[in-house]
Amino acid sequence: MSSEVVLPKSGNKEDIYNHLLEQMPYLFPEGDHYLSLLSNFSALLKESFPVISWVGFYLVSDEKLVLGPFQGKIACTEIQSGRGVCGKVMVTRETEIVANVHEFPGHIACDSGSNSEIVVPLVKDGILLGVLDLDSYEFSAFDEVDKKYLEQMVGQLLSTTTIPKI
Ligand code: SME
Repeated sequence: MSSEVVLPKSGNKEDIYNHLLEQMPYLFPEGDHYLSLLSNFSALLKESFPVISWVGFYLVSDEKLVLGPFQGKIACTEIQSGRGVCGKVMVTRETEIVANVHEFPGHIACDSGSNSEIVVPLVKDGILLGVLDLDSYEFSAFDEVDKKYLEQMVGQLLSTTTIPKI
């Protein structure tokens, strides 16, 4: 990807997600290195939605998650399976929406300012490769609309990207 990305200046959340989905084939072409794609994917979301305080990937390595490309403050480098929201999603492989992280048992607070989050699993050919984690300083920042579109975006990303075993 070489040309500048034009992001919508206004519109509701669905309009913005639809715009991003339309642009994805050009932004994330087959053949680009997976680290570059995951980095730009994080940047695209962070720039598109000001409500996001942190967005990034945790990738499966052995039985744990390790910090991958992200946008935001310095974060926890390793998350054990079953721990926190990301660790739960590693087990359930289902998207988790957390309206208030302070009420989530075992939540890992990398940034004490974070109040809500959504975590989407990265599953390709039945194999869990990692998770996409989005945090916000607002409570209830993410909902079923985010779940629907983020799952679509992740599916599209994984269809053209190979994330190797790390
Ligand atoms: N909130 C996550 C930990 C990762 S940081 O938010 C970046 C969790 O509890 O899984």
